[in-house]
Amino acid sequence: MAERIKIFDTTLRDGEQSPGCSMNLHEKLELAKQLEKLKVDVIEAGFAMASPGDFAAVKKVAETIKNSTVASLARAVPEDVDKAYEAIKYAESPRIHTFIATSDIHMKYKLKATKKDVLERAVEMVKYSKSYCNDVEFSAEDASRSDFDFLCRIFEAVIKAGATVINIPDTVGYTTPDEFFRLIHHIKTNVPNIDKAEISVHCHNDLGLAVANTLAAARAGATQLECTINGIGERAGNAALEEIAMTLNTRKDIYNFNLGIETTEIYPTSRLVSKLTGMKIQHNKAIVGENAFAHESGIHQHGMLAHKSTYEIMTPESVGLTKNKLVLGKHSGRHAFEERLKTLGYTLNKEDLDKVFSKFKELADKKKQIFDRDIEALMQEKTANVKEIYKLKHFVINSGNSITPTATIKLLKEDKEIEEVAIGNGPIYSAFRAIDKIVGNGFSLEDYAIHAVTEGEDAQGEATVKIKLHENTYNGRGVSTDVVEASIKAYINAINKMLNELEWQEE
Ligand code: KIV
Ligand code: ZN
Repeated sequence: MAERIKIFDTTLRDGEQSPGCSMNLHEKLELAKQLEKLKVDVIEAGFAMASPGDFAAVKKVAETIKNSTVASLARAVPEDVDKAYEAIKYAESPRIHTFIATSDIHMKYKLKATKKDVLERAVEMVKYSKSYCNDVEFSAEDASRSDFDFLCRIFEAVIKAGATVINIPDTVGYTTPDEFFRLIHHIKTNVPNIDKAEISVHCHNDLGLAVANTLAAARAGATQLECTINGIGERAGNAALEEIAMTLNTRKDIYNFNLGIETTEIYPTSRLVSKLTGMKIQHNKAIVGENAFAHESGIHQHGMLAHKSTYEIMTPESVGLTKNKLVLGKHSGRHAFEERLKTLGYTLNKEDLDKVFSKFKELADKKKQIFDRDIEALMQEKTANVKEIYKLKHFVINSGNSITPTATIKLLKEDKEIEEVAIGNGPIYSAFRAIDKIVGNGFSLEDYAIHAVTEGEDAQGEATVKIKLHENTYNGRGVSTDVVEASIKAYINAINKMLNELEWQEE
């Protein structure tokens, strides 16, 4: 019987720590629900002590998720453990994840503590966590650069204190597959009570080896693999969940494990993470990149036509990638549209369906052929729980290579119409400046990008905008067959998210 391997997803914690990847409470909840659909075993919902916003998000995820364990990170200090438990206590299956650094470098320069102090603190905090919650994970931060025998001693002690999972992070992405295999094997054979805890690994991707190291660890005996969707995370990121899952599934001859992941949810989850964080997926990214299943050269296309197995080691359908088919047009009815949405994995209530269907009809008037990707773009524009404080009423742009671009923008705030005019060094910049005049600024534009959703002259443009207020960033998205309109919608969407969050903080 193949051994069960567990997937611990840390997109909401380590992933969210990547620069510019922050998400608001509603976005985190939406992602947590999707991770539950993907059937990850553990969702690390955040670091409850980090801020009141993080605490609220971990708590909300814990209250909502029923089929995955929900964990909160906590440094090995009592206040962090208290906060973590306070946030996760309503979960169906709660876990406290506490950590302390164990490498000489971290102990000397960061903690200014001896091995003895670190070992004592680790044991104390595992015992303290255990007084709240049966499921306690202990991580030895920077384990891969720690003294192997010290690691064995600390793991033995925390297991004795009640740790149910011991995690071995390659915090700085320094190890290699052979070395990491030896480390996991060393721990498995030298920690006398190791059979009482699960072995977990957590690899960073600084040398591009995170997935390879994680898989080597699985072969050496690790049964919990920590990872993130699209590999987002601190610096170069974490091991990518989709790559680990599809390698384990595709190469069962080498990795004889049982995995709970619903692989057909991989693609929708990847797109959701990209949408919520504003972090683009590189086109040649394994499994979920735009080109991952595209066969360009004549020789490859010929082979694929003769037999798919010539160049395809897994099917696009197995990761939930539906073909970019021509699906609907101007005369398609609501029922056909709803059916297509279901096939793409979206089930909407009547009110949301009405809204998206009317957007679809507007689009069908402008665009002859509507593809799955167009529908996905419409769906991604629909942002859950973001109250539209400002709505676009109309815009007029005057632009050319011999005049100063001028934008007139009229926005609706509740029933009030507000109009402003601004100039700028381009049609989009002038539109953004006119919006700034209406909304008032204080925030800055951090990033802006536009790309075509599908091919063809009438393709929709999808704009993404990132704005920053103090330390928080907000991502906005807008889709239209007119790129200026897409950009304006994206800018307003980001502003609405920012204002929503300010309102929640005031409540
Ligand atoms: O990379 C790391 O060491 C971590 C730990 C807190 C698990 O993220
Ligand atoms: Zn990490």
